[in-house]
Amino acid sequence: MSTSSSDASQHGLWSKRTAFMFAAIGSAVGLGNIWKFPYMTGENGGAAFVLVYLACVVLIGLPIMMAEIVLGRRGRHSPVHTMRRLAEQDGHSTNWQAIGWLGMLAGVMILSFYVVISGWTAAYLMDSLFNTFQGFDQASAEGHFNRLVDSPWRLLAWHTLMVVLVAWVILRGVNRGIEQATTVLIPSLFALLLLLVGYAALYGDFGRGLTYMFAFDYAQITPEVALKAMGQAFFSLSIGMGAIMVYGAYLPRQFSIPEAAGVVVTADVLVAILMGVALFPIVFASSMEPGAGPGLIFQTLVIAFGQMPGGWLVGILFFALTLIAAWTSAISLLEPTVSWLVDSRGMRRRTATLGSSAVIWVVGLGTVVSFNVGSDWTLYGRNFFEWMDYLTSNVMLPIGGILIAIYAGWMVKRSVLEEQADLGNGLLFKSWLWLVRLLVPTAVFLILLHGFGWV
Ligand code: PHE
Repeated sequence: MSTSSSDASQHGLWSKRTAFMFAAIGSAVGLGNIWKFPYMTGENGGAAFVLVYLACVVLIGLPIMMAEIVLGRRGRHSPVHTMRRLAEQDGHSTNWQAIGWLGMLAGVMILSFYVVISGWTAAYLMDSLFNTFQGFDQASAEGHFNRLVDSPWRLLAWHTLMVVLVAWVILRGVNRGIEQATTVLIPSLFALLLLLVGYAALYGDFGRGLTYMFAFDYAQITPEVALKAMGQAFFSLSIGMGAIMVYGAYLPRQFSIPEAAGVVVTADVLVAILMGVALFPIVFASSMEPGAGPGLIFQTLVIAFGQMPGGWLVGILFFALTLIAAWTSAISLLEPTVSWLVDSRGMRRRTATLGSSAVIWVVGLGTVVSFNVGSDWTLYGRNFFEWMDYLTSNVMLPIGGILIAIYAGWMVKRSVLEEQADLGNGLLFKSWLWLVRLLVPTAVFLILLHGFGWV
């Protein structure tokens, strides 16, 4: 284990404040916002899901994100080593490093399906380059999507490409690649989303789309919907698994954590909401089903791209940006494992990257077949992909979040925490402290119990 002082990390530091923000936004903004949020909203009845999601983001997500950055910046290592060092410094059992282990496992599991879905985006980018979606209607859009996912070989090819792309960036070291790419990407993604919203307002069933997303009906909030909305908040914000912790480990001391976390959370929520606002009007106008599941955005958007003026170009840009957004998230899913291999095994970054990518590729095969030959290989009603998704978002990340909150809230000396949190020592700090100490662990725990139907 390295003995570097607490103001440096052996993996490097972000060069500017914006670099951390863009990297963390790059991690947070990804398929979770663009692909998963709309289809989860559609599957879970719309506004009720959105409401619980937003509440979870503000009351649970933001405080945990801050806690995670605080721990990461203090520990300056991979999540496993960060937690071990902190536990030693704070005089607690080194079993707290379990947070790091659980996170790494969750990261590998998420990434194994993440690369497959990113592969769909790559396939759609290729199609849009060839102007495939010209004049598409509902039937052709559905047919096109099904032909892609029905073929294990095509999925395998795209999935392999994505694993290579992710490994390539991680190999080069995160700093330069991500810092630069995300600075250009995030603003462009916003611009495109606004364009899409504009299209939806002009040509879609905007009123019905908005009602669907925002007309809350409390009766629809079931424990299951609440669990899924909370899981989605964890997934979308990249919290509970060490990705934000390890990015925090590269954050120079002088930058304000609340400010960084606030910006990241705001950007993340905006992208998800804009996606919904763009999508549901198109869904309703083309009489598609909001509950179409994982294929939803692929089947709906191409109808819009096939019909809107300039849709060819908008389609290319959209899938390109989604691909990059997915890519910058995928990188952060692998970084905890790679940094751990480097920290603890003294492995070279290269070996660590190649080894872990190979594992991801193999586990990913399970998701590749989940959409075709293996879609009926289920256990308790879920196939492989559905299990990976369910276990990570709805179980592992929330448990990771509870542990992070408990460690930050109860195990760190108050004076140390006050000094590290950049919130002063007044009301703001106290509110955060009590959120992290009580509200977050209790709320997450209760939502878990109810969601599983145990109480
Ligand atoms: N937040 C990413 C997304 O929304 C996914 C992710 C989860 C990334 C956990 C890192 C850690 O797509």
